[in-house]
Amino acid sequence: MVDYSVNGSVALLLVNNPPVNALSYAVRKGLADGMSKATKDKKVKAIVIAGKGRTFPAGADIREFSGPKRDPWLVPVGNGIEQSGKPVVAAIHGTCLGGGLEMALFCHYRVALKSAKVGFPEVALGILPGAAGTQRLPRVTGLPIAFDMITSGRHVPAEQAKKYGIIDEIVTGDIVNAGIKYAMSVVGHSTIPRRLRGRAVPDAENVQKYADAAMAQVKRKYKGFEAPVYCVKAVQASAGKSYDLGVENEQTLFKVLGQSGQARAQQYAFFAERLVGKWEMPGGNSQTAKPVPVKSVAVIGAGTMGTGIAVCILSAGLPCYLVEQNSKFLDNGIRTIKALMEGSVKLGKISLEVGRRATSLLKPTMSYDDLTGVDLVIEAVYENIDLKKEIFAKLDRICKPSTILCSNTSSLDIDRIAVATKRPEKCVGVHFFAPAYHMKLLENIYSTKTSPETAATVMKLGKTIGKVPVLVKSCQGFLANRMNTPFGNESTFLVEEGALPWEVDQVMEDFGMPMGPFKVRDLSGLDISMKITAEIAKTLGVTLTDETRFVAGSRYSHMNTMLAKKGRLGRKAGKGWYKYEKAGGKIPTIDDEVISILDNHRRNLGIERRTISSQEIIERLLYSCINEGFKILEEGIAKRPEEIDISWLYGFTFPKYLGGPMYYANQVGLSRVYDRICYYHETFPYSKHWVPSLLLRRLSEQNIPMSQWMASPGAKL
Ligand code: CAA
Repeated sequence: MVDYSVNGSVALLLVNNPPVNALSYAVRKGLADGMSKATKDKKVKAIVIAGKGRTFPAGADIREFSGPKRDPWLVPVGNGIEQSGKPVVAAIHGTCLGGGLEMALFCHYRVALKSAKVGFPEVALGILPGAAGTQRLPRVTGLPIAFDMITSGRHVPAEQAKKYGIIDEIVTGDIVNAGIKYAMSVVGHSTIPRRLRGRAVPDAENVQKYADAAMAQVKRKYKGFEAPVYCVKAVQASAGKSYDLGVENEQTLFKVLGQSGQARAQQYAFFAERLVGKWEMPGGNSQTAKPVPVKSVAVIGAGTMGTGIAVCILSAGLPCYLVEQNSKFLDNGIRTIKALMEGSVKLGKISLEVGRRATSLLKPTMSYDDLTGVDLVIEAVYENIDLKKEIFAKLDRICKPSTILCSNTSSLDIDRIAVATKRPEKCVGVHFFAPAYHMKLLENIYSTKTSPETAATVMKLGKTIGKVPVLVKSCQGFLANRMNTPFGNESTFLVEEGALPWEVDQVMEDFGMPMGPFKVRDLSGLDISMKITAEIAKTLGVTLTDETRFVAGSRYSHMNTMLAKKGRLGRKAGKGWYKYEKAGGKIPTIDDEVISILDNHRRNLGIERRTISSQEIIERLLYSCINEGFKILEEGIAKRPEEIDISWLYGFTFPKYLGGPMYYANQVGLSRVYDRICYYHETFPYSKHWVPSLLLRRLSEQNIPMSQWMASPGAKL
């Protein structure tokens, strides 16, 4: 795991643990053994630690966290490095993260390639740097940067890291040779002044001021997450305590966090995110299907979604046509894209250079004839099946035979769109979430005809544009919206039965959702949800009138439509489920008119208002979705619970510290969830979404936790 060699007077400890050289037990032991060998060897005057393959160690081995701790841990290994009288140089390339950066900070010198990045991403795993990182980084960078790096987990490019004092020199060429050359230049130098444990934390007397600012920031930015709060506490101790006491304090906090439910959920989410990249569909999978190269893209429609999608494509450095039917819409689209790019530059998300280059790749046009040679087209017009079919037929006539045709749709069946073309195997759904330039989820949808190559192409495109792509089978609403539909319906039913919109919102926000369902509706516009409901009703062949409440064996509410018809279209109209008068119409406030609308509505329906508990709100909103999630698995729309959880984490901003709805259900206990679903099914027999999932019933009855389900074919239906 650590290859040892001596080059002249320099010993090289080359970590060899693919793919990311994680600091597993064998690596830690290898480093300790290598250090001891190099210390004893009189020929050796300096030591280099580097990583073989693509990176310097990218951290501790996360998979080891769930098992018993095995010595040597990183801190004693690091202490051995730091105490060495022979200079030790960390030669960094790739991603030097977490325990990897801690190891580098134990070394006396750090050199890096310009392309390297360093950081402490532990916070994203629900923990903190647990090998003295919270004590060593502030000694190098000062407190404000240490607070920022450790609480945000951001990856810092090498040149920036040099400005912070983390990197001593940017080197070029082969990293091992560069490391050895640097090591030779420091042979004979005393290591004592280079030992960080002996350094004072700069500006330590102002620690309270910096800690207060950092704490206020994490509480606002990472509401509900425990790890950032602990990170602040650990870094703060670096200035108030001795180095050794600071490390001891860090270890205590590390242990508490490590055993918390949040850490386990966040680590589950880390591996789930990687797992969804290993997709499967009839006829192929991520291993066997090869994506076709995509060098140019076209987006049809310059509305909110189309421009957002174009920004994603352009930011990834791909040329992108933007197609609109008239110059007014096209000009608006160009303006929106430029404004979004400028906004990203101002926020520091992209550099001015990248922003300018991306904008220069935009090719606005009103002619489909320009699209003959593009590799991939994304149709992003509004949800109207006839219009989408018309566009697909046109694209099929004009584009070269190899062009992949994608529809950005949130629910329309891809088979029904693809039928308009002679290339159904090259038709696929790509569901972006609003705002498309910001939300990380890309739900890719294959139809009965989509080829694995086409699926592979959109999965790869998703990664290229910085999204987390999840592949699902086409059905009404696909994974995300199908599963989210009961969430929306139940929230309205609760309000009909007696809860107030702001009560439902508060319960869900306390649960960890960034915004309650009624605020979300106001933000996206009640007219939009009204149109989507009407389009879905059309697809299902049901008629939804104001009076209809039970159609096709299910309960529907027309409250959104009712409010929309009263001009309460949401935030843009100054009123919806809330009213918006404060702070330029951005702050929702309780509206008495909504209370009387609800009272009237209940009277008309003969519903007697009742008190609804927070627990019922959580169960009705979430358990109904979880039940649908199990049906999605049952039907093979998604292959694994991880695909569902990732869709919720990145599509609906479900709190990561709860892992996702399926992980959450497993934590609550599948039997408990199943029992409550049965109870609600008895109470609301006309709501289809309460019909219990057979898979959930089987898992609950046989007491099989979800983690075991995939490995337990007997539990499969
Ligand atoms: N431990 C175990 N496995 C890891 C790992 C780690 N620290 N980091 C990555 N892997 C695994 C991934 O699960 C994946 O495995 P599969 O191929 O089986 O799916 C494989 O390595 C490749 O990972 P990615 O697909 O993510 O590769 P990438 O090139 O897209 O990204 C990366 C590379 C930026 C390093 C990314 O993997 C990453 O962010 N890793 C986590 C880094 C991290 O959080 N480090 C801190 C660890 S905790 C710690 O160090 C505690 C401490 O203070 C001592």
